[in-house]
Amino acid sequence: MKKIIPVLLASALAFGAAAAHAEYLIKFSHVVAPGTPKGKAADLFARLVSERMAGKVKVEVFPNSQLYNDNKVMEAMRLSDSKTTGIMAAPSLSKFVKFSKTIQAFDIPYLFNDIDDVHKLVDSPVMATMTDPLEKKGLKALSLWDNGMKVFSIRGDKPLKKTPDDFNGKKFRIQSSEVHAAMIKALGGVPQKLPFKEVYQALSQGVVDGQENAWSNVYSKKFYEVQDFITVSNHSYLGYMVVVSAAFWNGLPDDIRNQLTDIMTEATAANRQFAAEADQGDRAKIEAAGKAKVVELTDEERAQWKAAVAGVEDQFKDQIGADLLKKVHEVIGH
Ligand code: LMR
Repeated sequence: MKKIIPVLLASALAFGAAAAHAEYLIKFSHVVAPGTPKGKAADLFARLVSERMAGKVKVEVFPNSQLYNDNKVMEAMRLSDSKTTGIMAAPSLSKFVKFSKTIQAFDIPYLFNDIDDVHKLVDSPVMATMTDPLEKKGLKALSLWDNGMKVFSIRGDKPLKKTPDDFNGKKFRIQSSEVHAAMIKALGGVPQKLPFKEVYQALSQGVVDGQENAWSNVYSKKFYEVQDFITVSNHSYLGYMVVVSAAFWNGLPDDIRNQLTDIMTEATAANRQFAAEADQGDRAKIEAAGKAKVVELTDEERAQWKAAVAGVEDQFKDQIGADLLKKVHEVIGH
C-alpha cells in the first residue's frame, strides 16, 4: 500500500502535466449554462478528448459567456492565427447572418414543424452548401447541435395566445437576427436585440416584456421566474453551429484532425439526446415551479400565428436565395 500511493500520485501528476502541456489547446467558449444541451455536449467533447488524446490536445470549456459573448467569439476566431491554440464555439445559427445570408433560412418562422424536420435538413447535402462558404470567412463549421423548438414568454396579465394581437406594443428581446426582427414586427411587437447574458436582467427590470427561447435556456437562466406566461408556440428552431478558427483547424496534423472529427461526431449524437431530454425535462421543471403558467395553442390559434408571419419568408427570399429555399422545402417535405 505504501508503495502504491506514491505510484498513483506520480501517475496522476504525470497525467496532469501531460494534460496541462498538450501540444494543442482548444478553448471552447459558449454563452449558456453547463447543464443545457450545448453545455453538456461541449463538456462531453472535452472529456472524450482528454481521455483519448491526452498530451496531444486539451479542450477547456468556458460556459456562461465567461470568455466571449457569441458575437465577439466569431471575431476572435477570425482574427486568431495561432497554430497551437484554437478557439471553438457553438453560436446559435441566428448569429451567423454577418457571415452567411443563407443560414437565415433556419430562422424562418414555422418553416420546421418539429425537430425531425430540422434533422432532415441538417443531415442532407443541402447543409454543406450553407456551411462551406464560412471557411472563406475564417470559420470552419464542424457540426450542427440542437437546442430545441422555441417558446414565447411574457410578463403581464394575459398570455400570448388568442391572436397575434396580444403582441401589440410589447417589447421582445431577440438575438441579432433580422428574420427574428421581421417576425416580431409581423406579430405586432417591438423587437429589441440584446446579448444572451443581458436577457434575465432586461426581463426582470421590465426593459423588455418578453422573449423567445428553447426550454433549457428559459429554465437554466431562470427567465420563468420573471415572466408570467409561456406559450408553447414552437414557432422556430434554436440550434447551433460548432465552429473553430479555420487557420488552426486546417493547420492540424491529419491524424489529430481526424480524431477530433470522430469525437465531434460522438458529441453531436449525444447532443441530440441531451436536447430531447431537456425539451421534456426542463419544461416539466418550469411547470412544477409554479411561477410562469405554461399555455398551449389550439390548432386554430396556431393557424392564426402562422398566417401573421407568413410574409417573413418572402421578405428574405432574395437574401437567402430562392433556389436554396426551394431545396430546403423539398428536403423537409413541405
Ligand atoms: C440566445 O441568445 O437566446 C441563444 O442563442 C443563447 C444560446 O446560445 O442558446
